[in-house]
Amino acid sequence: MRASRPSEAAGAQPPPASTDRPDAMPLPAKTAQPLPALLQTHALCRHYEQRSHPLAPRRRLHALQDIELRLDSGRTLAVVGESGCGKSTLARLLALIDTPSSGSVLLHGRELRMHDRCALRAARSQVQMVFQDPMGSLHPRQTIGQILDEPLRVATSLGRAERADRVQAMMQRVGLHPGQAAHWPHMFSGGQRQRVAIARALMLRPALVVADEPVSALDVSVRAQVLNLLMDLGQEFGVAYLFISHDLSVVDHMADEVMVMYLGRCVEHGSRGCVLRRPVHPYTRGLIASTPTLGRPATPASCVIRAEPPSPWKPPPGCAFHTRCPHATAICHVQLPALRWHDGRRVACHHAGSLPGSLPGSLPGELPQAGQAPQRARGGG
Ligand SMILES: Nc1ncnc2c1ncn2[C@@H]1O[C@H](COP(=O)(O)OP(=O)(O)OP(=O)(O)O)[C@@H](O)[C@H]1O
Ligand code: SF4
Ligand SMILES: [Mg+2]
Repeated sequence: MRASRPSEAAGAQPPPASTDRPDAMPLPAKTAQPLPALLQTHALCRHYEQRSHPLAPRRRLHALQDIELRLDSGRTLAVVGESGCGKSTLARLLALIDTPSSGSVLLHGRELRMHDRCALRAARSQVQMVFQDPMGSLHPRQTIGQILDEPLRVATSLGRAERADRVQAMMQRVGLHPGQAAHWPHMFSGGQRQRVAIARALMLRPALVVADEPVSALDVSVRAQVLNLLMDLGQEFGVAYLFISHDLSVVDHMADEVMVMYLGRCVEHGSRGCVLRRPVHPYTRGLIASTPTLGRPATPASCVIRAEPPSPWKPPPGCAFHTRCPHATAICHVQLPALRWHDGRRVACHHAGSLPGSLPGSLPGELPQAGQAPQRARGGG
């Protein structure tokens, strides 16, 4: 079902010194200069401040904390986690439409500084975003032709005729009829509008597309078509994706690597096979166990995520997951677990090495997909 992909093993971080990463890529020869990653972040943080009333002290919400990631060209990194864990905040920072509170974002090895407008403009043509709501993200008073022409008009020196040719070619490539260039967004179905949004994102041939829940607003019958379109175009144009989704079956279809977030922090990050088939962190196991999947035995109690998520304004001390974790011990209440290498992935859990090794929370083989199986198909959805 899945298109062939480069090795799943190319982790998002340099391999650790230890050998507990059997699926790691071979290290380059000592003399070879490692290529800079397409995208890298160091200690990336974003917080928001609020007052409950004008005289109250400011409260701080840490939407994103200490995110370290590396994404290479042509790869897909999926980010998963409950609502409010910081996925869209991360997406906005990486799409350069929001500013970090601290930490850095590097594109092709160069740090992006928000006050360097020239560098930012160049970087913005390299990074594009596809939003969840295709209707809201398309200008209602522009025709599809104008929407697709705009990035070329603003960021290139192409003449009108050449731009029109490129718009037509891209429309055809995403499965739209070039004759529809004069139509308005409201004249299209949701799936067609998302095709327009994808086409617009790719007009400048970016190196990275940040896709925040790109199919969750679509009818299940067209999700597979749009996902397959994204994958095909990714391979054709060599685009890397940062792909955000609540749906683990979609993530399983799309991703090379998976990063699991909880209350603004990365708690597990590794190859798709590692994280979805051999999850280590109790939160990852719980997320997977709560994914409805045909043919999987009922979820054992040790994998169920208990209680409601804590308030992000007042996260629990120590491991923020301890209020819901079936394996929590005294240390979990007081000490934040570091993100460290274990069994081929990075995981933040004090007891990663001693948790039960069974895989009741893992996804089986290739997922039988609950309801919206992304079969490879094309069509005009
Ligand atoms: N502009 C803002 N001001 C204050 N708090 C914000 C702001 N934007 C986001 N937040 C808070 O930051 C946290 C992370 O929000 P974010 O939108 O990144 O979550 P998410 O993982 O994308 O959630 P969802 O799955 O529901 O889209 C949430 O607690 C949210 O309330
Ligand atoms: S550190 Fe403790 S509370 Fe946190 S996930 Fe691990 S076992 Fe659970
Ligand atoms: Mg979001």
